[in-house]
Amino acid sequence: MDKANLPTFSVLPRHVGIIMDGNGRWAKSRGLPRYKGHIEGARTFRKIGEFAGDLGIECLTFYAFSTENWSRPPEEVAAIMDLFREYLRELDARKAENEEKGIQVRFLGDRRAIPKDIQRMMQYSERITRKKHRVLLNIAVNYGSRQEILHGVQALAHEVEKGRLRAKDITEQMLSDHLYTAALPDPDLIIRPSGEYRLSNFLLWQAAYAELWFTDTLWPDFTEEDFVEALRAYEHRNRRFGGV
Ligand code: FPP
Repeated sequence: MDKANLPTFSVLPRHVGIIMDGNGRWAKSRGLPRYKGHIEGARTFRKIGEFAGDLGIECLTFYAFSTENWSRPPEEVAAIMDLFREYLRELDARKAENEEKGIQVRFLGDRRAIPKDIQRMMQYSERITRKKHRVLLNIAVNYGSRQEILHGVQALAHEVEKGRLRAKDITEQMLSDHLYTAALPDPDLIIRPSGEYRLSNFLLWQAAYAELWFTDTLWPDFTEEDFVEALRAYEHRNRRFGGV
């Protein structure tokens, strides 16, 4: 889309979550191996991340790898890990450009199971992009919302066990503060492509009031126009947060 003629909106979500789904089917429909779908999906991720930043969205969270995705064939998992490596190297190579654009990158999820070299690169990328944050780009890797909530509950239970907190004093905010998304605004809009109508263990606590938008388009085919369509739908929704 032409940068000089970007669409404008009466209201923009502050935080958009995106479940990048449909890569496998995209590849299959072309007679290609599944990993080719992920390569194309990673391109879409870059394109939509950049576009959203240009539109002025402050916070994005992309679901890149779930805690359940380890059960895929090893060669597919390896291909996805390689895509992370490639992207992380690119973040280093484009350090100056990203700083100028004010892009901050963060990873959400349990890093312990991720190959060590990737863990190091993640830490490094977070460090080199932490200066500015016009756009906060979160990438959920080995992320599972139930596990995230469980860890938060365990941490609070530990405080109770130690006598530093009373169970009845636990607040919603305290649990929010123990999630990977602590200090981020809750997602206002969650986009799921590929014709599936579920959250699949993505930001379950945080999405309590999120608007959901679905499309049949597979993630590798997802365009800037599709993103605009989701934002237009959001613009026309009336968010009441349980009020009238
Ligand atoms: C779901 O599609 C997608 C994934 C499990 C992987 C998503 C990963 C990427 C797009 C690469 C991300 C890269 C970077 C740099 C962040 P699926 O395989 O479940 O599709 P299907 O439902 O059609 O089989």
